Amino acid sequence: MDPFKAYLIEGAPESVRAGFTQLTEAQLDPGEVTVRLQYASVNYKDALAATGKGRIIRRFPCVGGIDAAGVVEASDSPRFRPGDTVIVHSHGFGVSHHGGYAQSARVPVDWVNLVPQGLTALDAASIGVAGYTAALAVDLMELNGIAPARGKVLVNGATGGVASVAIDMLARLGYEVVAVTGKPAEAAYLKELGAASVVAASELQTGSRPLESAQWQAAVDSLGGEPLAGIIRTTQKDGVIASIGNAAGIAFSSTVMPFILRGVRLVGVNSDNDVPTREHLWRRLAGDLRPRHLERIREVVPFDALPRVIDDVIAGRNRGRKVISLAAAA
Ligand SMILES: NC(=O)c1ccc[n+]([C@@H]2O[C@H](COP(=O)([O-])OP(=O)(O)OC[C@H]3O[C@@H](n4cnc5c(N)ncnc54)[C@H](OP(=O)(O)O)[C@@H]3O)[C@@H](O)[C@H]2O)c1
Repeated sequence: MDPFKAYLIEGAPESVRAGFTQLTEAQLDPGEVTVRLQYASVNYKDALAATGKGRIIRRFPCVGGIDAAGVVEASDSPRFRPGDTVIVHSHGFGVSHHGGYAQSARVPVDWVNLVPQGLTALDAASIGVAGYTAALAVDLMELNGIAPARGKVLVNGATGGVASVAIDMLARLGYEVVAVTGKPAEAAYLKELGAASVVAASELQTGSRPLESAQWQAAVDSLGGEPLAGIIRTTQKDGVIASIGNAAGIAFSSTVMPFILRGVRLVGVNSDNDVPTREHLWRRLAGDLRPRHLERIREVVPFDALPRVIDDVIAGRNRGRKVISLAAAA
């Protein structure tokens, strides 16, 4: 399908520029699997990469897009055959290897998963890295002992991609979810996803003493920074905090008191996983963690809208998951 449209990030770490171009198959990176891409999504990391606001890109030029779904065109690996519907994400995809904002990709086999029965390519891209990371957080929190009867679960940055899917999954599993958002006007959306209550970030009471009154058994934290510090001092005994993101900052300060007096567990979440972990989580994403409100969470937009969506994410205006339709692009 030469040539094809791609969104290329060029320049250098201190002077990033991004825009549409045409590429040919010969310009793709090496890999065992070639995929005709249909849908990609816009994650926070994609927006940082395309604007240079985070030092995300490791090789210039690089097609952006850390996740995309489509159909296998050619495979040198017995794991995939032409015609398989697959999702590609994480590791170097869209960071050090041409990524998902293109109509074709060639990638290492370990970055590819079959889209499980019951999900379409559009569903898989709607879940994307954000939803996969939410599933990983839930999985890790379960391994650390969370249970619906043990108390509330806080999800902050609630209107964001990771958080929207996390709220849906946790509510589906029977948890009482407290959604904390900088956009309280989106309360109706968050309740539709399953949040039991919605708290404006500016109203959240987390105090400043080493230990504050315990309010949650667990939290999915997309923000880092001071919001994470507040969660640590308000998490109940043996509670679990999944640290996912840094939308509010990378640094936070805490005392050890919540850890040694309450046994609070701060669990790091990273979506660059081995094949068995990816297969386990994608099975769950099509099974007991399948988001019930994916149509509500996602908005499908044309390829040409990508720069506008990136601006919205950087400005904190995003809600849910934005999916880029690649196939329809001219
Ligand atoms: N560890 C991993 O492997 C992994 C994987 C995926 C994502 N992440 C990280 O997880 C975070 C969320 O990713 P995402 O794709 O869900 O992003 P997103 O869709 O842009 O959502 C982030 C949400 O955070 C809130 N927010 C944005 N800027 C903020 C600010 N300056 N201060 C406070 N709140 C702010 C907003 O929600 P409200 O307005 O509702 O508060 C926003 O919708 C990012 O930091 C991303 O890099 C990490």
